[in-house]
Amino acid sequence: MTGTATLQDAYDDAVAHLSRAGSPTPDLDATLLVEHTTGMTALDRLTGPERALSPRQHQALRTAVARRMNHEPVHRIIGWREFYGLPLSLNGHTLVPRPDTEALVDLVIPFVRRRVEANGKCRVLDLGTGSGAIALAIVNQVPGATAIGSDISLDALDMARRNAQTLGLSDRFQPLHSNWFSDVRGRFDLIVSNPPYIPTATIPTLDPDVRDHDPLAALDGGTDGLNAYGTIAARALPHLAEGGRIAVEIGKGQRAAVAGLFAAAGLQVDASARDLGGVERAVLFSA
Ligand SMILES: C[S@@+](CC[C@H](N)C(=O)[O-])C[C@H]1O[C@@H](n2cnc3c(N)ncnc32)[C@H](O)[C@@H]1O
Repeated sequence: MTGTATLQDAYDDAVAHLSRAGSPTPDLDATLLVEHTTGMTALDRLTGPERALSPRQHQALRTAVARRMNHEPVHRIIGWREFYGLPLSLNGHTLVPRPDTEALVDLVIPFVRRRVEANGKCRVLDLGTGSGAIALAIVNQVPGATAIGSDISLDALDMARRNAQTLGLSDRFQPLHSNWFSDVRGRFDLIVSNPPYIPTATIPTLDPDVRDHDPLAALDGGTDGLNAYGTIAARALPHLAEGGRIAVEIGKGQRAAVAGLFAAAGLQVDASARDLGGVERAVLFSA
């Protein structure tokens, strides 16, 4: 890729480079990077493939493609990702929200709706909120719901707060700095969490896109990957309202161990959900 180029040529060139570098989704990556660096969409390319990129735009695209070829995730480069229909901005301290986590939101939304219908409100606590993904998806879907999103990272919380503001949801979303339940006060209709669940020894073997770019605090679940579940299960009950529920995302094959930790704390499995790949990904518990 050198000099100026038409939109179509620049896109084709980006796809070729990304394919050669082993990107599993070169077309999508190229589409997002072209839009990010030029403001021109896939529709612009279809309707005006001969449009010229300015030298500055072309250079910006080349830089972005080089970053992607160096295993930087495309959503880190463009600085946002869509989750449950919401565009969420990211920083270096927030996990890139994953489509798998939408299975957790799908699992809890019917309960949140029922609670709002019955009581006119539903208080949600999202432990380890990161970008705010789960909490913001819930309050966006159910107008009567309110959420506290807690995290140990102040930088992640800052991003979550800004996402709530941008999306016009800040009147129903409150960030809270807390080490799991340490600074949480009161009871909630729903506690939800996608905690770090990767065993420490597995982290060096992860895809570099994840290992080198997602924050370690969002990944590392301790020796067996279950540290956070143990802490959350042991301390959840005093924070659950009458008839409340708690739901967590789990890693592949963790259901039995996680259910065991929650059972020891007096919480039984109510339902579970699979992600798009058919992996059991989310479990809902009640007292
Ligand atoms: C897997 S990420 C999930 C982020 C977001 N909820 C999502 O689904 O995209 C786990 C989150 O837990 C936070 N976290 C890690 N340890 C924590 C702790 N001790 N207390 C509170 N939050 C913690 C991390 O900072 C990170 O934002």
